[in-house]
Amino acid sequence: MTLEHVVTESKPSRLIYKTEVIIFPNAKDVDVYSGNLINQQIYNKPDSKLTLATGSSPIGAYQEMIREYKAGLDMSKLLTTNLDQYCYIPKNHPLSYERFMNENLFNFVNIPPDRRFIPNSEASDPDIEAVRYEQILTDTGQADLVILGIGPKLTGHIAFNGPGSSVDSRTRVICLDEDTIEANSRFCCDDKNQVPCLAISQGIANILEGRKIILIAKGAGKAEGIRSALEGPIGTHMPASLLRYHPDTTFILDSEAASLLGK
Ligand code: F6R
Repeated sequence: MTLEHVVTESKPSRLIYKTEVIIFPNAKDVDVYSGNLINQQIYNKPDSKLTLATGSSPIGAYQEMIREYKAGLDMSKLLTTNLDQYCYIPKNHPLSYERFMNENLFNFVNIPPDRRFIPNSEASDPDIEAVRYEQILTDTGQADLVILGIGPKLTGHIAFNGPGSSVDSRTRVICLDEDTIEANSRFCCDDKNQVPCLAISQGIANILEGRKIILIAKGAGKAEGIRSALEGPIGTHMPASLLRYHPDTTFILDSEAASLLGK
């Protein structure tokens, strides 16, 4: 029987997933490439909506944004939402992601304060705050570009969505797992007891709704997470693996983060 002779009653549907992986020899190249990609997005669509991550991974890309802003790139029409924020800490607490964003990006570019959204860490009821934030995400529409890091190596979670989260999870209050608390204590005198254990986080569904996603990972500490995200089983045990369902995701890696791929 040849292909022409195959008659089916139902119309097949075909899903094509494309995860692009770009590997650079060193971390600086990752920063420059990721930053250029974000800047290009802003040049192409000045009123882009960006989803932003905190942490060490995107800092170099944010520096490229600042450099380009100083060279003339206008960011006054951008709209940004952050992935997550701790609960029950002042906005200017050393661990606050609002503070992080101010110190690493917002203080140096002209994104208007009323177009920058971060969950309110001072909310007295984080569950209500999560609902309010989800409404903002809905009202402001689809993100044009989502910028992600990847978390501690064993769970490799993105945006704190550790085991137990589901594919359709949206903004909610989550308990940070031990890996994340441990990793984040480096910003808090290495004292795990000072790291808040609750955060408000966008969910996997919010992330996957973005038009384009980039995931930035550098260093050998990310190698195991990157391998299971790209080569392991797809599932909520490893939320970053769900990015393989997304039609336009690019992993931007240095050679250390990519060192376990294909092994
Ligand atoms: C931060 C976030 C986290 C980090 C991840 C990696 O907003 O959602 O998932 O992206 O923990 O952190 P770094 O980049 O510091 O290794």
